Amino acid sequence: MTEALVPMFTPQPIGFVRSPFKDAAAVPKGLGAKHEEEGVLNIFPEFDLGLADIEGYSHLIVLWAFDRSEGFDLMVTPPSDSRPHGVFSTRSPRRPNPIGLTVVELLRRENSSLHVRGVDMLDGTPILDIKPYLSSIPSEILRRGWLAEAESRKG
Ligand SMILES: C[S@@+](CC[C@H](N)C(=O)[O-])C[C@H]1O[C@@H](n2cnc3c(N)ncnc32)[C@H](O)[C@@H]1O
Repeated sequence: MTEALVPMFTPQPIGFVRSPFKDAAAVPKGLGAKHEEEGVLNIFPEFDLGLADIEGYSHLIVLWAFDRSEGFDLMVTPPSDSRPHGVFSTRSPRRPNPIGLTVVELLRRENSSLHVRGVDMLDGTPILDIKPYLSSIPSEILRRGWLAEAESRKG
């Protein structure tokens, strides 16, 4: 094991996702895939105080664990392209640290449950962290790499 892969901390879930997706094949994939399904982020009661003031945000960043993915590939061919790309320029579940990131719309909070739109996680996915989404990058300077090229090839 290289030094970079020595664990620095042991992640503990702060809750679990309730999602309509029971298996990976059901999650929309590829160019133009839309993630509009609703789900619930059920946060454990001991972290409830940490949700204070979260209702003020329209969108949240959810960090979660790819708990049903094993191993990693450094080059992957994503469903949105026919060409291989380095794993760190993709959102592949098969990555050295199997951490997922999804931006969801916060619909409402009910105690320790956050009702959200835009889930792409499987039902029962462990949640590692939640942060408010605050984008400050102007669209005119944002570059979208190989994905923009794949979209323009598709036409
Ligand atoms: C391409 S990844 C993107 C995930 C996240 N938006 C990201 O960027 O990190 C989405 C795919 O991850 C897979 N997936 C979702 N939840 C998972 C889980 N708990 N374990 C393993 N794979 C999962 C599904 O196949 C889904 O289509």
